[in-house]
Parts: sequence; structure tokens; C-alpha cells
Amino acid sequence: MESVIVAIDGPSGTGKSSTSKAVAAKLGLSYLDTGAQYRAITWWMISNGVDVTDADAVASAAGKPVIVSGTDPSRPTITVDGADASGPIRTEEVTSKVSAVSAVPEVRALITELQRTIARTAEQGIVVEGRDIGTTVLPDADLKIFLTASPEARAARRSGELKGADVRATQEALVKRDAADSSRKTSPLAKAGDAVEVDTTELTLDQVIECVVTLVEEKR
Ligand code: C5P
Repeated sequence: MESVIVAIDGPSGTGKSSTSKAVAAKLGLSYLDTGAQYRAITWWMISNGVDVTDADAVASAAGKPVIVSGTDPSRPTITVDGADASGPIRTEEVTSKVSAVSAVPEVRALITELQRTIARTAEQGIVVEGRDIGTTVLPDADLKIFLTASPEARAARRSGELKGADVRATQEALVKRDAADSSRKTSPLAKAGDAVEVDTTELTLDQVIECVVTLVEEKR
């Protein structure tokens, strides 16, 4: 089968990660979680005492950490300066600060370049998930998917993942983060004009995976 590049964008809690990993594994493609990269740089900023509300400070530190993503969908990894960061990047503190860091143009320029290199060198093809993959990072992707779901469904899924988190508080945090990600100046969260929109509110994860696999196979 030919190499294929798939961009999967959408807000938090739409099933992007689970879908992207499963589709990549089924089709023998690499997988890249771009949110993990923005989380990793945010974690580095926090750990190194950079004030994440100070865009100039974030911009001048942006090039310092070395972020490496492993692209095996059955075992995606992320390291910062050689250390495994997969646990620390999922804390509430990182989640609440990542939108501020990812809005800084210098951060986006560096991470976007990293993402393009990874996509270019994935021999069998790759599924790349994020917020601006179809619009900015890989505008020539073979297939672009935009996943959506109602805020209630997204919050319920996310609080399930966070084991026992309050659904209402989770929904408020999600809505706030999506608003910040959608309204920033540099490559906001947006559906590309040529993306296929899939509303996952009433679908099981398996149904979403099947739908995306079918769409990819049509492109190959
Ligand atoms: O996907 P995840 O929820 O882990 O993403 C964390 C954050 O990273 C998002 O809320 C957003 O601020 C940022 N992000 C981004 N562009 C991407 C992927 C994620 O700005 N392509």
C-alpha cells in the first residue's frame, strides 16, 4: 500500500488520540501526538521557572528543550532533554498552562518544523493529531478529518479518563481551553476547508475508528 498522511484535528475530548492511535496501528502507519509536544514544552517552561504568562520569556526559552517523540502507535513516547516526560505532561498544572505556551508564535514555529520533519520521514505514512494539522502543519495531507462532539460528551469522556474527576469542572476547563485554542492569532484550532467532519457524540470509539479507516482506505 502507498504511504499516506492523515491529519486529525478537533477540540479536546472528541476521541482524537484513541482514534488516531488505533487507526495508525490498524493500517501500519506511524502516529504523532502533537498535543504531547506542546505539553512537553510547557512542562519544561514550568520546571525551569519560566513565567508562562510572559510571552517574551516563553519565546526566548522556546529553543532550549530538546523534545523527541516516538511514533509507534502501540507505544508512543515523549522525552524532554532525554528524560521520559509522558507522565509529567498530563498533570492538571500543565493542562491549565499549555494554551498560553502554545499561543506563542516562536513556540509554534519550532514545533511545527519538528512535526513536518517527522511526517516527511515516516516511510509508511503517518497519522498526525492536533489542532492545526490540516490547516497549517500539513496542508497537503492526503486526508483531513475534523472530529467534533457535544461539550457534554467531551467532558464525560475526559472525566472518565481522569478517573472520578467532576464532570462540570472538567467541562468548564475544556470549554475554556478550546476557547483559548480557537481564538489565538497564530494557527488557531480550526477545521480545514477540505476536512471531513465526523461528529462523534453518538458514536462508539470502534465506530469512529471504522469510519476513519474506511476514509483512509479510500485515499490509498
Ligand atoms: O491534544 P492535547 O489536549 O494534549 O493538547 C494540549 C494543548 O496543546 C491544546 O489545548 C493546545 O493548546 C495545544 N495544541 C496546539 N496545537 C496542536 C496540538 C495541541 O496548540 N496541533
